[in-house]
Amino acid sequence: MSIGVAVIGAGMAGRGHAAAYRAATSLYGSDLPDVKLVSIGDVNAQFGEAAAKRFGFERHDADWRSIADDPNIHAVSVVVANSLHREIVEGLLAAGKHVLCEKPLSDTLDDARAMVAAANNASTVARIGLTFLRNPAIAAIQQIVASGQLGKVLHFSGNYWADYSSDPMSPISWRYKGGMGTGALADVGSHISYVAEFITGRPFTSVAGARFSTSITERPVPSGAVQGHSGAAVSDQMDAVENDDYAGFMADFDGIAGAIQVSRVAAGHPTSLEFEVYCEKGAARFSQSRNGEFELMLNEDKNGQRGFRTIQIGPAHPYIAGGLPVDAPGVNVGQNDQFFFQNRAFLQEVAGLPETAALPYCANFEDGLHNMEIIEAVIQSGNSNGASTVVPAAAPTYLKGVKL
Ligand SMILES: NC(=O)c1ccc[n+]([C@@H]2O[C@H](COP(=O)([O-])OP(=O)(O)OC[C@H]3O[C@@H](n4cnc5c(N)ncnc54)[C@H](O)[C@@H]3O)[C@@H](O)[C@H]2O)c1
Repeated sequence: MSIGVAVIGAGMAGRGHAAAYRAATSLYGSDLPDVKLVSIGDVNAQFGEAAAKRFGFERHDADWRSIADDPNIHAVSVVVANSLHREIVEGLLAAGKHVLCEKPLSDTLDDARAMVAAANNASTVARIGLTFLRNPAIAAIQQIVASGQLGKVLHFSGNYWADYSSDPMSPISWRYKGGMGTGALADVGSHISYVAEFITGRPFTSVAGARFSTSITERPVPSGAVQGHSGAAVSDQMDAVENDDYAGFMADFDGIAGAIQVSRVAAGHPTSLEFEVYCEKGAARFSQSRNGEFELMLNEDKNGQRGFRTIQIGPAHPYIAGGLPVDAPGVNVGQNDQFFFQNRAFLQEVAGLPETAALPYCANFEDGLHNMEIIEAVIQSGNSNGASTVVPAAAPTYLKGVKL
């Protein structure tokens, strides 16, 4: 048996998925069936062709329907603009494919709900890529907190600082369209939101004090195709930015207080998800700008010697042993590795291999809908002068088994 895979979208994150499928059988032993790299789908044939060649896929397709129609393709990543997720995901599920969709699940709650219904009706695996759950340092902190070593969680502070929009001449793209909340909040705020829940062990119950701002209100129209956050040649024509460069809000995780800020104009931070969690018996903190380590503070340390200690990530922490070609202590990890671990977990489930503590299955579409409901509550809070806004009750799968 072999699993035929395809990636729809050859952009920034699509290349991460393509590389991850290529690496999948080389991670965590030899239990995975053969993985056949069949197609990269991209409407831009040049992008599709280049990615297929670079990552060793047999072909590229300009229309995703050719992937849906191919009986030799079993599992597909959907890695295109959020507004395109629903149509493609529904088409793939109807064609009997296993689907791994990028976050956020969609650009509207209605579409996200329809996607949950489609996933529930399908007999195949439908999962969402909440990649930062796969960060070894984040998962290590989660294990420490969930073990009770730090006692009760008191409060959480999280940021996702990025500066990909700092340059006013970086061109308009799908990322700048949609109302307030569909910008930095949906793009990077979606990540820090599920990470906040993963670390505190509790789902969001409400948000308050939401504030959005847009610093660069129009951007040049590109003269060619644009991918990811990269710069591109631009024309003289300008187009309106419709969404947030910055979003901030207070959070309640079922009794645990928190604060979250995100930005795409945070100069000096190319991409940095970071957080601090304060607990009864100590604290822990992480910054993506130092992916290979985390910091831990234990109140039990001797008076005069108390302080944050730095712990280098290694095989004693989640994902590393067997997950890296060189899995020795101090050998670093990065965001690309998160896609490797994530897509391996997806293929493991597709192949019917058991979920292990070392490699939990990916989050499901209900989790993706919940993530969008958090974003929607922040939008509602922002629209009502910061009023406290309830987040619908949820039990995300990534909190499974955590008792705090
Ligand atoms: N998990 C992560 O860390 C992470 C990181 C970046 C992006 N993302 C998510 O991945 C998705 C894509 O983001 P990106 O930055 O890679 O986008 P991108 O703009 O870099 O790439 C999108 C690609 O889709 C192609 N495309 C457009 N319409 C298409 C269609 N109908 N069929 C096939 N291809 C089409 C474009 O030509 C482009 O190559 C988004 O949902 C985003 O939120 C996730």
